[in-house]
Amino acid sequence: MKSKLYFEYPNINHTLFDKIVDETKEIGYYNLPDVCVDDVYEKISKFADKKYIVVVGIGGSSLGTYAVYNYLKSVKKITTKLYFLESTDPVVLRSVSKKINFDDAVFLIISKSGTTVETVSIFKYLLSNKPLNKDSYIIISDNGSPLHSLALKNDITYFEIPKNVGGRFSVLSNVGLVPLAMIGVDIKKLLLGAKSVKDEFFSKGEIYNALMNKAFMYAKNSHTYDINCLFGYSESFRGFSSWYVQLWGESLGKKQLNSELHVGLTPVGLIGPTDQHSFLQLIVEGIRDKSVTFIKIKNFDFNTEIPDITIEYLEKMDYINNHNFAELINKQADSIIESLINLGDIPLDIIEIEHICEETIGELFYYYELLTSMVAKLIDVNAYDQPGVEDGKKILRGYFN
Ligand code: PA5
Repeated sequence: MKSKLYFEYPNINHTLFDKIVDETKEIGYYNLPDVCVDDVYEKISKFADKKYIVVVGIGGSSLGTYAVYNYLKSVKKITTKLYFLESTDPVVLRSVSKKINFDDAVFLIISKSGTTVETVSIFKYLLSNKPLNKDSYIIISDNGSPLHSLALKNDITYFEIPKNVGGRFSVLSNVGLVPLAMIGVDIKKLLLGAKSVKDEFFSKGEIYNALMNKAFMYAKNSHTYDINCLFGYSESFRGFSSWYVQLWGESLGKKQLNSELHVGLTPVGLIGPTDQHSFLQLIVEGIRDKSVTFIKIKNFDFNTEIPDITIEYLEKMDYINNHNFAELINKQADSIIESLINLGDIPLDIIEIEHICEETIGELFYYYELLTSMVAKLIDVNAYDQPGVEDGKKILRGYFN
């Protein structure tokens, strides 16, 4: 993974690094790449012949898993069917459950708190189709949660989410590892990718410089360039994009710890080239409040060519003939990057990854988690709580009482 910045922040204060090192002692996600996963493989082996894996969870309990699945599905032969039930939307519930053979399915009930209304309501619906039993259900939760008690009492396979790993930082814990291992993703490689970024950052390699510059630039310009666009040049980034939006938005939009001031940075997930025909106009000619990070894939490993065909009246388009689509999409990215560099007033950087594989999505996760923690420190917010979502939950309960 290469992280190339077209800006440099001149006043980096390196004590941020010491603060992050301190935080590694209490915040669990930092050390997830070092965790041994043999236990995961051992415990899921009894479900090996199941044809349908259904992730039941929302937010941090599903977005990371979906990001990996969406990223790898074009390059990996995934024969087990994976479905996500996260929304209370009855339309989705109906259409997904129609596709599942309940007798051949394993439902992964994933919730850190164990009391999330979306997850619990869907769980109830599933139970009405398939009663709780140890061949059809797996529970992933916090030790001591109501779901944990349920698992213990009914002898349901249970995986723990470490107490100090927050929902949106949990993709590299059992939350993501268990479902991903069940569909054949090499979770050891996923963790190796994350570990390579971890090691490079903490040994102050190249990634360290990129992340420090980025964190300071975002934080110090958080009142001017307060919108951060992540422009991934592949459909394979759609899931990652949603994961990024949750991580960045829910971690950084807060009241400051030492004041009552509302602060935050607004994430926008874009996909190229589709969004060249949409949001790009706003970046180029709209208010100068956006930074842009491009993510490119160096080797797509697909050589599909644009055939040497001339279409009557469209002879001018023959310049693309005999080039392959991978080259076209990357040149499209490059042309937009060049056009933005030419403008000179849009903070811009590029992340380039080698291939679509487990390692590179592991790298991306860890890179963005680190960046989030660093920016949070600099803008003086707690990245790991989300008090702003609580009132709505209370009001909802009130509606039903
Ligand atoms: O990041 C977070 O903490 C949240 O987005 C949670 O992941 C989300 O609310 C789901 O919570 P739970 O895992 O407790 O069901």
